[in-house]
Amino acid sequence: MTAIESSAPARGTARADRAASRAENARQRIPAVELRGARMALGERVLWDGLDLRVDPGEFVAVLGPNGSGKTTLLKVLLGQRALTSGTALVNGRRTDRSVRSAVGYIPQQQAMDAELPLRARDLVGLGLDGHRLGPRLPFGAVARRRRERVDAALAAVGATGYADAPVGRLSGGEQQRLRVAQALVGDPAVLLCDEPLLSLDLANQRVVSDLIDRRRVDAATAVLFVTHEINPVLPLVDRVLYLVNGRFRIGTPEQVMTSSVLSELYGTRVDVIKVRDRLVVVGADDSGTHCDHLHEAAS
Ligand SMILES: Nc1ncnc2c1ncn2[C@@H]1O[C@H](COP(=O)(O)OP(=O)(O)O)[C@@H](O)[C@H]1O
Ligand SMILES: [Mg+2]
Repeated sequence: MTAIESSAPARGTARADRAASRAENARQRIPAVELRGARMALGERVLWDGLDLRVDPGEFVAVLGPNGSGKTTLLKVLLGQRALTSGTALVNGRRTDRSVRSAVGYIPQQQAMDAELPLRARDLVGLGLDGHRLGPRLPFGAVARRRRERVDAALAAVGATGYADAPVGRLSGGEQQRLRVAQALVGDPAVLLCDEPLLSLDLANQRVVSDLIDRRRVDAATAVLFVTHEINPVLPLVDRVLYLVNGRFRIGTPEQVMTSSVLSELYGTRVDVIKVRDRLVVVGADDSGTHCDHLHEAAS
């Protein structure tokens, strides 16, 4: 049980209902995410085609690939914000339209927050509830109390209680990213979509944020789709990889996908995957800037 769930027993029913329906889905083996024959084309350009992907509850899937390969677009399809060109996308067995939004937690690609932004940490987390559940009405009475308890529990779960009332723009990148995790989890999602959540974090904060996400996966059987440029920080957590490159893709375990021959085929040029201690170093891919940095890092 997560801290989010254990510290606030009062708001039971909706959450218990969702937990029960998740358990029922698992019994019926309904995937958390399913893509069937998915195609996404932008005019002439095909981001992917014939994409079949089934993600089970509690599975951690890393989505890798160079800039522009369609990783963010894939998450937007699952959020119901973009429609596939053809094929089917399901979350919890339901078609992805706006109604699935409440089953999905989303950590968007990071944007710098204005230092003067008049928003407290707890307000940012609360948006994870208000956005899709409470509608435009302001909560009051018991609803407001329940809402506050949930936000407090989510803040506690990411260790952000100490700055719950601080303006978000004044917090460090690591602190802001913990809040984004809390915002994504406060609605008790069945699926967590993370778009490069470790970008621009130092190693210690990369660890904190990936551990928070993984703890949620283990405790609540939340499926995780984790878009990342760099697999190493999450390599121990990854069950499978979806690697997208220029309209081609490959799905499999890290051992199956992160090989010189598979990546050379995907990139259409020679790519070497070298194992340095417990890190994978990819040399020769188009976007090898980051990877080469890590080659130096791994070698130093
Ligand atoms: N709303 C949009 N309309 C048209 N093209 C888009 C839109 N959003 C993204 N693209 C294009 O789709 C491609 C994939 O983008 P994206 O999914 O953001 O890639 P990634 O996240 O892998 O870097 C890019 O070429 C981008 O310019
Ligand atoms: Mg992106």
